[in-house]
Amino acid sequence: MTDAYDPAKDGAQMSFDGRMSYTDYLGLDAVLDAQHPLSSAHDELLFIVQHQTSELWMRLALHELHAARATLSGAEIRPAFKMLARVSRIFEQLNSAWDVLRTMTPSDYTTFRETLGQSSGFQSAQYREIEFLLGNRNSAMVKPHAHRPDLMGRLEAEMEKPSLYDCALMRLAQVVAVPEDALSRDRTKPHQPDEGVQAAWAEVYRDPSRYWDLYELAEKLVDLEDYFRRWRFNHVTTVERVIGLKRGTGGTGGVSYLKRMLEVELFPDLWHLRTKL
Ligand code: HEM
Repeated sequence: MTDAYDPAKDGAQMSFDGRMSYTDYLGLDAVLDAQHPLSSAHDELLFIVQHQTSELWMRLALHELHAARATLSGAEIRPAFKMLARVSRIFEQLNSAWDVLRTMTPSDYTTFRETLGQSSGFQSAQYREIEFLLGNRNSAMVKPHAHRPDLMGRLEAEMEKPSLYDCALMRLAQVVAVPEDALSRDRTKPHQPDEGVQAAWAEVYRDPSRYWDLYELAEKLVDLEDYFRRWRFNHVTTVERVIGLKRGTGGTGGVSYLKRMLEVELFPDLWHLRTKL
């Protein structure tokens, strides 16, 4: 009989006394100790892990989006393309994750729904920050965070800054004429479609080789919104499958609210201009 394989003989480090290990580096004790189901329902852990992993991916998305926005204000914008592509892939990942949650039936969910109280993804500060950073701003959405000055401060500070799309417009304005009011708009409001801005983007789309960087930037933004829309759609479909037309734990009409959110356009000009080409 051959001896059991011992990776130590191939050089694998086996002793971590006084050395940083995998568990140490990743802070896994804190991460894996952060799941606290409030019921004995089997599926509550799935529900918690699904939300927590989504929040971790959102954390990375914010890291990339903040860096992408800063890059758009710098000399060389191409590094932002990679960051934006990564955010699209993060949303793709989150979209696939719904398949796991869909294994939870309405009967499973009702075994622990009461324990959630009034908590809901509607109160996800990171989700709201992503929306605000991209440009979908609404001061009413800050209110659920009033009890947490740190989170509220972050969202309010975000509303003061130019959105990612504002930065794209400033970049566009360096090369083609963009209406002044679009550049000095009220940053606390969501982006509205603007004929003049669409005409500016149309110039780029009619001659991609001349304006390649702006063309690629616009397409990266459209790609990102495309995946974001799919997330919204998968969410509302999963929600309807699990709770039907019941009200949400966060107090909204539930599916009716989420269907309304499907109409949100993050970068309306980039969608509207396509009709004109
Ligand atoms: C069975 C699972 C789920 C159900 C039944 C559900 C239900 C709902 C409902 C009804 C709302 C509307 C607000 C309310 O009144 O509560 C909502 C919003 C939201 N949920 Fe979920 N959800 C589920 C899973 C998830 C997951 C896994 C995430 C990932 C983080 C998530 C993130 C969000 C976010 C960000 C919002 C706010 C959307 C917006 O304001 O546009 N949800 N959810």
